Amino acid sequence: MKNEEFKDKVVLITGSSRGIGKATAIALSNLGASLVINGRDKERLIQVENLIRNSGGKVMSYCCDITNPDQVEKLIEETIKTYGKLDILINNAGVSMRGDFSALNPEVFKSVFDINVLGTTNTTIKAIPFIKESQGSIVFVSSVAGIRGLPSNSAYCASKMALRAIAESIRIEEVKSNIHVGLIMVGITEIEKNKKTIAADGSLITLRDRSNFNVLSLDEVAHSIINNIKKRKFRTTLSLMGRINALMQSILPDLVERILVYSSNRIKARSL
Ligand SMILES: NC(=O)c1ccc[n+]([C@@H]2O[C@H](COP(=O)([O-])OP(=O)(O)OC[C@H]3O[C@@H](n4cnc5c(N)ncnc54)[C@H](OP(=O)(O)O)[C@@H]3O)[C@@H](O)[C@H]2O)c1
Repeated sequence: MKNEEFKDKVVLITGSSRGIGKATAIALSNLGASLVINGRDKERLIQVENLIRNSGGKVMSYCCDITNPDQVEKLIEETIKTYGKLDILINNAGVSMRGDFSALNPEVFKSVFDINVLGTTNTTIKAIPFIKESQGSIVFVSSVAGIRGLPSNSAYCASKMALRAIAESIRIEEVKSNIHVGLIMVGITEIEKNKKTIAADGSLITLRDRSNFNVLSLDEVAHSIINNIKKRKFRTTLSLMGRINALMQSILPDLVERILVYSSNRIKARSL
C-alpha cells in the first residue's frame, strides 16, 4: 500500500485520546485517512478531534468504553453511518499494571483483561464483517511484554500474549477473506508526565518519568504501525532491543530467565 492509498481509507483507532493512539491518528490524518477516534474521556477526545479537524483532517470522535459491548456496537454503527465503510481497525486502547502476582487483587487481573483483551475482542468481532467487505486491516497493538512473562507485570504480559494468540487465530481463520492482520510488539515508549498505572491493590500509581531514557518516540511507534499496514505485514517488533529480546527468548530462554531473575533481585534490593 502506498501512502496515497490511505486517502479515502476509514480508520478506527481505539484509545486515541492520547499517547500512541493519538499520534497514530494524527499521522494517518496527515496521509489523508478519515479517522474515528475513541476513548472514555470526552474532553480529551474533543481536543484531539479539534486538533485534527483544524489541520484539515476528516475526523469523528466517539466516546465509549470498549469493555461495554453495547457501546462498541454503537461505535461501529456510527462509523458506518458517518463514512459508509470501515477499512482499518487499530486495536490500541490498553492499560498496564505493576505488582507481584502474589500481592495482586484478582480484580486488577480482571480489569486489565477486561480492557486489553475483552475490549479488543468486542471491537474486533463487531468490526470484522466491515473489514472483510473492504478487505482491509485489523491491527493489534501488543507489547514486547507479550513475548514472555516479566516480573511485576503478570496480568499485562498475559493480556498482551492473548492478543498475539487472537491475531494468529484470525489470520488463519480469515485466510480466504484477504484481510490483513497485524501485530505490533511495542517496546518502552515515551509517555505523558504523571501517567498512571494500576498497582497490585487496584490503586493508581504514577509511572516513573521516562524523559531521560532512550525510549521509542510516539511518532516512531505511529510510523511503524502505518508501515505494518502499508506492507500488510503480520508481526512488527519495535525497537532493536525488542527484536534482540524476542530472538534471545526463542533461542536462549534459560539465559533470559537468569538475566530477569538477576535484574529483578537487584531492583528489589535497591527498593528495600
Ligand atoms: N507506552 C508504552 O511504553 C507501551 C509499550 C508497549 C505497548 N504499549 C501499548 O500501546 C497501547 C497504547 O499505549 P499508550 O502508552 O499510548 O497508552 P495511554 O497513553 O495510557 O493511552 C491509552 C488510551 O487508551 C484509552 N483507553 C483506556 N481504556 C479504555 C477503554 N476501556 N475504552 C476506551 N478507551 C480506553 C485511553 O483513553 P481514556 O483513558 O480516556 O479511556 C487512551 O486514549 C496500549 O495498548 C499499550 O499496552 C504501550
